[in-house]
Amino acid sequence: MAACTFHICLFSLIFCSCGILGEDSNGTLVDVGVDTLRPDLVCSPSEEAWRRRNTLQILRRQGPCYPDRVTKPDHRQALARVHSINARLSSATRSNGTLLQGSKHCLPVQSGSGDYIVTLSLGTPKSDQMVEIDTGSDLCWIQCKPCSVSCFPQQQPPFDPSASSSYSNISCTSAPCRPDLGGSCSSSSSTCLYSYAYEDGSATGGILATETLTVTPSTVFPSFVFGCGHNNRGTFLRETGLFGLGRSPYSLVSQVADRLGNVFSYCLPAKSSTGYLTLGNMTAAASSAVLYTPMLTDARDPTVYFIDLIGISVGDRRLPVPPAVFRSSGTIVDSGTTLAYLPPPAYTALRSAFRSAMSKYSRAPPRDEMDTCYDFSKAQTVSYPPITLHYDGADITLGFVNVFYIDDDVSQVCLAFTANTHPGEVGIIGNIQQRTFEVTYDIGENKIGFTPGACS
Ligand SMILES: *[C@@H]1O[C@H](CO)[C@@H](O)[C@H](O)[C@H]1NC(C)=O
Ligand SMILES: *[C@@H]1O[C@H](CO)[C@@H](O)[C@H](O)[C@H]1NC(C)=O
Ligand SMILES: *[C@@H]1O[C@H](CO)[C@@H](O)[C@H](O)[C@H]1NC(C)=O
Ligand SMILES: *[C@@H]1O[C@H](CO)[C@@H](O)[C@H](O)[C@H]1NC(C)=O
Repeated sequence: MAACTFHICLFSLIFCSCGILGEDSNGTLVDVGVDTLRPDLVCSPSEEAWRRRNTLQILRRQGPCYPDRVTKPDHRQALARVHSINARLSSATRSNGTLLQGSKHCLPVQSGSGDYIVTLSLGTPKSDQMVEIDTGSDLCWIQCKPCSVSCFPQQQPPFDPSASSSYSNISCTSAPCRPDLGGSCSSSSSTCLYSYAYEDGSATGGILATETLTVTPSTVFPSFVFGCGHNNRGTFLRETGLFGLGRSPYSLVSQVADRLGNVFSYCLPAKSSTGYLTLGNMTAAASSAVLYTPMLTDARDPTVYFIDLIGISVGDRRLPVPPAVFRSSGTIVDSGTTLAYLPPPAYTALRSAFRSAMSKYSRAPPRDEMDTCYDFSKAQTVSYPPITLHYDGADITLGFVNVFYIDDDVSQVCLAFTANTHPGEVGIIGNIQQRTFEVTYDIGENKIGFTPGACS
């Protein structure tokens, strides 16, 4: 009910409440108070991570629970990531989904791309490591002493392998030293090295090693393969490295799958709270309101998670965009990309329906790749059309935290979707669109599930 002004509300609570799910000529609109859009400054951590087995707490780098909150992510980093994803998918350097040594087509890991952080422990005695998690990455690595060439600054001293009784170098003759997974050797008697260079200039290199990984006190993995990075470049804050959640053999999820089951799920927090990463088949989603859609594998990169997006609705109107538009280049679900990227015809249709439903609000200037921004500084409530992503078998309706890109300023709130630059580029469901849902990756059963309202 777009006409439900504050004045009318004073006289009629019925009119006012109808605004919450009011109908107008453009379909259903949802009202949200502008104060709800503003960022929360106080951390209210969720208990969920402690209630579940094999579960780690997730912090959002831009949220109040993160020790050094970052308010302004660097959008050039975000763009570099999207370019890398597409370079990687179209690249001949990637064969059978495995990263070739020295490939320059890994995903960037600098600030702005890694929005979500977990803490787990490595070594004996245990040493806490605060690492980015990323469904688009394959290896797990941290900075190690000695820092032989260069390291980025981190809060705590880098991991010291010589101080851990459970650390071992991987030798060139041992099975995990696979050139197709990034391992390299100068001679067969030597230690296996790894090196990942990222398209934006950041890089990590060092020794491929095994260590005791303590996920939770009762979930300990004695011979976890990771990269002990003695030469690292990149802009990190408190983080000490990155743990991949992709489908390659040395990602975190692959290495725990034999024991915990080939499933993981996460809930990425949107506001003041914390989220969680559950490893294994003990996810709560096993029971309740989870909606599943097939997990697809694409020969261009079998380690990332493709999903069958077939349509989009704005309000209750389905956009006139046939499934073939989405399917021609495919869509991935990525925890490390912030916005959603759509094929240009799909984005144009979405934008036009969204703008027409939002026509009563003043527009604000575009911001980076987002061209549909509003100034809500004078509004009390915002009536916006919910966006539904239609996947094969699952219609997922997004809330305001999934629709809008908001940082500190309600005078420039943007639609958190954009168009791919080139027609052949892959579509991406970014982390904004996933926030507050539990997203379950059931790799064994090849399905991806969404459970709404799983964290805040
Ligand atoms: C992919 O793997 C298969 C079997 O594992 C192999 O026959 C094929 O040559 C590989 N393709 C490339 C491009 O390496
Ligand atoms: C691992 O290899 C490095 C480089 O060759 C060596 O300096 C270090 O002592 C080795 N560590 C162990 C525990 O073998
Ligand atoms: C979970 O995975 C483990 C290890 O693969 C398996 O033993 C167990 O039966 C699975 N449990 C369920 C509920 O699927
Ligand atoms: C509904 O959409 C039309 C354009 O399609 C627009 O002119 C009109 O202002 C919108 N109405 C409301 C209440 O937003």
